[in-house]
Amino acid sequence: MIDTVKLNEVFGDAKKFRFFRAPGRVNIIGEHTDYNDGFVLPFAVDKFVFCAIRKNKSKKVRIFSALFDEMDEFGLDDIENKSEKFWVNYPKGILWVLKNSGYEFDGMDIFLDSNLPVGAGLSSSAAIELAVLSAVSTVNGIKLDKESMAKIGQKAENEFVGVRCGIMDQFTSAFGKKGQAIFLDTMTLKYKYVPLNLGEYSFLIIDTNVKHSLASGEYNLRRKQCEEILKTLNKKSFRELKISEIEILPEVLQKRAKHVLMENERVLKSVEALENGDIEELGRLLYESHQSLKELYEVSCEELDFVVDYLKDKDIIGGRMVGGGFGGSVIALVKREEKNFEEDLAEKFRKKFSIDLTFEEIESEDGAKEITV
Ligand code: GLA
Repeated sequence: MIDTVKLNEVFGDAKKFRFFRAPGRVNIIGEHTDYNDGFVLPFAVDKFVFCAIRKNKSKKVRIFSALFDEMDEFGLDDIENKSEKFWVNYPKGILWVLKNSGYEFDGMDIFLDSNLPVGAGLSSSAAIELAVLSAVSTVNGIKLDKESMAKIGQKAENEFVGVRCGIMDQFTSAFGKKGQAIFLDTMTLKYKYVPLNLGEYSFLIIDTNVKHSLASGEYNLRRKQCEEILKTLNKKSFRELKISEIEILPEVLQKRAKHVLMENERVLKSVEALENGDIEELGRLLYESHQSLKELYEVSCEELDFVVDYLKDKDIIGGRMVGGGFGGSVIALVKREEKNFEEDLAEKFRKKFSIDLTFEEIESEDGAKEITV
């Protein structure tokens, strides 16, 4: 929630502010497919970035982050330049895209707060983008549909922040719906909601609290390799590609292509499994996805593998790394009464890596919207 005491302290007159929130996301399955015209199956989570906003009758934007306890300020004619504080570049990127798309807005005071863990693979960056975009567009009378909002968020991250992410995170933060996962075709942006009827199971997020420094470099490298696959095989899209055609590729590219093609199949099967209430089949697909991310796409790491191996060992029905990889979290499908493994896993993990795991119970939630506090 928004810390209104702090808001008053920083800007004064908290009553003049309007309040917005946007959720993070967790991806059930369909990893590294969203920039390859593939399928994904994420849902928005009940952890958010909150944004309080008011116009300030000046030509300046003042932004405060409660998480980093830092203020930044810039003129409306100085939106082109990146800020030295990394977190500012997400809201600034949103203003930059709006301005370049011809939208006009006034000076504003913006206060950000969050209960989303940063770097856990729950996409706090898309949540900041969507929270700020909902807030800025609403108070300035800019009318945007959800799809445009997702695209603006992605553009800010691709072109201003400099991460070449796909559209899954922003789309989920915009379109999220309580009780539903989103089956999204990232090629056409057609989507359908799939009820999250998990029966006696629920999702548990196990955050390894590691983030390897190679993450963003390796992410961009995977994108390049995928572009190379299409170029070599003379295809416009992965959707035109058949598994029988990839044999002529060099070994590394064959592995990458195989992951993408099989992962798309797994998303389709997972949607079916969820719709049929076959949670054990869904769990099996999660393990398969992890194996593929580890061996074919090579974006896992020792810490993530350790957690997934432990889950398998304990007969938990499914689990896999989630998000970009090289750290972050594992998503596990667990029965409520099975939760007693947490302490044991945490202890074994600490012994091996000297790091404390964090466990987060998550539920699905609605996408970005205005709230009252
Ligand atoms: C990151 C990106 C997403 C997606 C995932 C991998 O979270 O932001 O667009 O590519 O990695 O599936």
